[in-house]
Amino acid sequence: MARVALVTGGTRGIGAAISKALKGAGYTTVATYAGNDEAAQKFHAETGIPVYKWSVADYDACVEGVRKVEAEVGPIEILVNNAGITRDAPFHRMTRQQWDEVIRTNLDGLFNMTHPVWPGMRERQYGRIVVISSVNGQKGQFGQVNYSASKAGDLGFVKALALEGAKFNITVNAVCPGYIDTDMVRAVDPKIIAERIVPTIPVGRLGTADEIARCVLFLVSEEAGFITGSTISANGGMYMI
Ligand code: CAA
Repeated sequence: MARVALVTGGTRGIGAAISKALKGAGYTTVATYAGNDEAAQKFHAETGIPVYKWSVADYDACVEGVRKVEAEVGPIEILVNNAGITRDAPFHRMTRQQWDEVIRTNLDGLFNMTHPVWPGMRERQYGRIVVISSVNGQKGQFGQVNYSASKAGDLGFVKALALEGAKFNITVNAVCPGYIDTDMVRAVDPKIIAERIVPTIPVGRLGTADEIARCVLFLVSEEAGFITGSTISANGGMYMI
């Protein structure tokens, strides 16, 4: 039986590429999304991948959503915590709301989605958890105090949980994408991308979502069982750690 993989924020951008790659590799894949029904339905029509709607920022919705997916599709053995948002502003103009929204989705979302699948993974003595962090959690980014804090938090989450999962054959790893050609990056002023961002990427271009999906595919494979608590940086050389 194919293992069941769930990708949060899995209907657009990097998440959509990950969902498609997992399906292509033979996993039974489901994707969640929080708001954009039109994009989700289009994604479902194109890929046949089932889509479920709930916000990763809402713990009760995650518990209920996981229960529903497990009843309809099967026990979740692979969880890709990809859902994330930006609310960029220089710190002196950042509002409490911008801070809260980013932390609730990007960081609380990890707890909310991982906690309900964790007991089953421990019982079955198998699990693969991948967290999509960011280069900006590693290096910091002007205008992203909230986002950088959440993405740095992702890395602490991964390392601590990896220790707890190790004896249950559950690996927990992070991928830190650099600037990838998605809606999230396209939302930044093109002048800033061209003048301030791309010149700092040694390979001289934005990455593609498929380049991140391939990292995830590797980390969730059975063969990657000795890799846990680690981070793959895929950023075109922007930041080396
Ligand atoms: N370093 C130092 N100073 C900077 C700077 C930088 N990187 N960027 C801007 N500044 C300075 C500007 O030079 C300017 O200074 P002066 O007033 O002295 O000229 C001042 O800060 C204000 O800059 P802006 O005009 O850009 O201010 P703004 O309020 O219009 O915009 C901002 C602020 C929204 C944060 C904007 O700068 C911005 O969008 N920056 C890019 C943020 C970014 O990279 N986001 C990534 C989104 S994609 C993502 O997050 C995915 C991922 O994981 C990589």
